[in-house]
Amino acid sequence: MLVPWSTAAWLTQNRLTFPVNPCGFCYHRFASSFEWRFMSTSAVLVLLVGPPGTGKSYLARRIAERFPMAIVETDEIRRQIAHPPTYSPRESGRVYLTAQRRIERLLREGRAVLFDATNLYERGRKKLYRIAEKYHARLLIVRTTAPEPVIEERLRLRKLGVEPLDLSEAGWEVYSRMKGELQDIRRPHMVIDTSRELQPALESILRFLRNEQ
Ligand SMILES: Nc1ncnc2c1ncn2[C@@H]1O[C@H](COP(=O)(O)OP(=O)(O)OP(=O)(O)O)[C@@H](O)[C@H]1O
Ligand SMILES: [Mg+2]
Repeated sequence: MLVPWSTAAWLTQNRLTFPVNPCGFCYHRFASSFEWRFMSTSAVLVLLVGPPGTGKSYLARRIAERFPMAIVETDEIRRQIAHPPTYSPRESGRVYLTAQRRIERLLREGRAVLFDATNLYERGRKKLYRIAEKYHARLLIVRTTAPEPVIEERLRLRKLGVEPLDLSEAGWEVYSRMKGELQDIRRPHMVIDTSRELQPALESILRFLRNEQ
């Protein structure tokens, strides 16, 4: 089916809707990559990017409440294969490999998939871009951010275990180690400040998922 629509076109459209970034999110690097393609309308990959505590899993849950998606979460996989987690490169390698295989299987089935992981490195993200292309899945990359004092407070509360749905054990130490590791995302993407009102960004993501103009 010819879909006159792509991530870049969608970003263009939504940038026009929110030209002055009033809601804590903005768009990057989309202008030159507009393209019209043959693609499947059902397989979709939403790729979250952001250090611990920036609100990826919270956002993932908000999205999944409104749109049926398979969530592949590295923290869930990490809990299955590492006791206790060390967040070492070796452990992360195993976790990401398992996640990539799950994503590939789900996209092959034409499912909508959200990958909830820090995804800090472009090399790792490239593997996911290739998987999305292989299954003609529409790809949306969303980077989450929040001011550092907000992250610090979130991670302090995480240690107290106040949020039962929070599977991550990453604390301030892990955040401090990882925050400098985030590599530039070389694809069109959204940036969402999750300390601000999420609703406008959420609606944009849902429009993308529903393939609405
Ligand atoms: N927009 C938000 N509004 C209210 N609370 C939030 C928001 N975003 C995140 N939080 C809370 O902050 C804490 C950390 O957020 P979250 O678990 O989503 O971070 P994360 O990016 O998934 O971290 P990790 O990489 O460690 O999994 C959670 O307890 C979550 O409920
Ligand atoms: Mg998380």
